[in-house]
Amino acid sequence: MSIKLGDTAPNFQADSSVGTIDFYNYLGNSWGILFSHPADYTPVCTTELGMTAKLQSEFDRRNTKVIALSVDRVEDHQNWIKDINETQMTCVHFPIIADDDLAISKLYDFIHPNASATSTVRSLLILDPNKIIRLMITYPASTGRNFDEILRVLDSLQLVDTYTIATPVNWKAGDDVIIPPAISTEDARQLYPKGVREIKSYLRYTPHPVD
Ligand code: BEZ
Repeated sequence: MSIKLGDTAPNFQADSSVGTIDFYNYLGNSWGILFSHPADYTPVCTTELGMTAKLQSEFDRRNTKVIALSVDRVEDHQNWIKDINETQMTCVHFPIIADDDLAISKLYDFIHPNASATSTVRSLLILDPNKIIRLMITYPASTGRNFDEILRVLDSLQLVDTYTIATPVNWKAGDDVIIPPAISTEDARQLYPKGVREIKSYLRYTPHPVD
């Protein structure tokens, strides 16, 4: 099965560092982040999972539940978590799925055979509360992800779901946003009470809609 942006994320049950998990039950009505890493006891992954734990309050603020995955066993996850907590000075509370039979990795296309036939690539999905896949990114094993970017995309997606806007390059929460091309400038002047800044007929900005 090939997973694409806009698809409904398939449900699964799996063993994890915190016990058996039903993915949909775990997510409830929250946004979700499902991310794979190549292996336990590896340096880049150690920093990534540590950072994810440190950002727990940022994910909570965005009503987002995080869950990690690799093809290692529950016992490895549980022992590695002790190392992550010690070396990254944090406390990992989110679950790490033990996908040692590769079932979920294959379901979610986390195995890229030309990169590695036996371990997962560094993929990350953002799911909205309807379990629709809204972001897919895949990094090579040698490059750790930027979790500030993940928070930034969550901010953008959550804003776009509330207001008829898009967000420009390098946008951060609080910056001006873009008025979609489907809205005429005349209509935009009614729809965006904070004002319309027209650079070109197709490039219009309005201040961030939330004070
Ligand atoms: C790491 O997480 O450090 C890593 C994993 C696989 C290959 C290279 C680095």
